[in-house]
Amino acid sequence: MSRVRKAVIPAAGFGTRFLPATKAQPKEMLPIIDTPTIQYVVQEAVDSGIDDILIISGKGKRAIEDHFDRNFELEASLQNSKQKENSLNEVRRIADMANIHFIRQKEVNGLGDAIYQARMHTGSEPFVVMLGDTIIDSVIPVTQQLIDVYEQYQQTVIAVETVPKEKVSRYGIVGGTKLSESIMRVMELVEKPDIDKAPSNLAIAGRYILTPEIYKAIEKTPKGVNNEIQLTDAMRILSTRENIYSHTIEGVRYDIGNKLDYLKTIVEFALKRKEFSVQFREFLEEIIRTNQIVNN
Ligand code: G1P
Repeated sequence: MSRVRKAVIPAAGFGTRFLPATKAQPKEMLPIIDTPTIQYVVQEAVDSGIDDILIISGKGKRAIEDHFDRNFELEASLQNSKQKENSLNEVRRIADMANIHFIRQKEVNGLGDAIYQARMHTGSEPFVVMLGDTIIDSVIPVTQQLIDVYEQYQQTVIAVETVPKEKVSRYGIVGGTKLSESIMRVMELVEKPDIDKAPSNLAIAGRYILTPEIYKAIEKTPKGVNNEIQLTDAMRILSTRENIYSHTIEGVRYDIGNKLDYLKTIVEFALKRKEFSVQFREFLEEIIRTNQIVNN
C-alpha cells in the first residue's frame, strides 16, 4: 500500500478579495494575530505525519519562502536579548518544521492547473492537497482524518462539510451515495453551482487526497468557472474511471479567503489565547454593551 507522505499547498492566487492588503503580500501570509495562515496549514500537515511539503507559489509570494527559511540576522538579534528567548525558539522552529519545497505557477490559471505543477514532485505517490487559505481546527487533524479514509479505500478522498443552501454557489459541491455516517461514494461534482443545480449542500472543504491519476484528468479538463481549470471538474472526469469518496470533516473550518470569516477567525482565536482572552472578552462585551446603548 502506498502511504501518503507528501502535501501540496497551492498558494499562487492573486488574493483579489483582500486587496489592497494583498497587493504586495500573499493572502496566505495574512496573520491570525501573530501567526500567518499558511503556518497553521503546514502545522496540520506535520501533525498528520507529513514532512514533505510542496508549496505552489507565484508572483509576489517570496514572503512565504522567507517565512519558512532561516533568518540569521534576526536570530542573532534575538539571541542578544534575554527576554526574547521564546521568540528565538519559535523563529527557529518554523524553519525546521518540515522539508518545504517551492515551485512557481507561471500564470494564474485555476486550482486544477496549480495542482498540475506538482506532478514531478509527487511522482507515482498519493498526496494531500491543502488549500493555503483554509484553517481547520479539530482534535484529529483533518489531513489525518482523510489519510485514515484513504488507507481504507486507496482512492481519491475529498473533505466536505455541510453548508447552508444559500452558500452552495461559493463552493465545489458533491453528491452521491452514503456509505456511513461520514463517508459517501461521490457520483456528482460541480464547481460553484447555482442553488437550483446543486446536487446537495455538501461543500468541498479545502483538503483532498489525490492519486497520480488526477494529472491525466487535469490534462483533459477544459476551462470552467471563472475561465480557469478547476480541480472539481478534473475530479468529475476522474470519477468516470475510478471511485471517489468524500469524508465529512470533524472540525471547524475557517475560510481566510473571505473577509467576514477572516475577522471571525481572529476573534475566535483571540478568545482562545490565554495571555489576553480575559481582557479581550471584557473588551468585546464592553463594545457590544455600549453599542446597544447607542442603538436604543
Ligand atoms: C476552492 C475550490 C472549491 C472549494 C473551495 C473551498 O474554491 O475550487 O471547490 O469548495 O476552494 O474553500 P475558491 O475558494 O478558491 O474559489
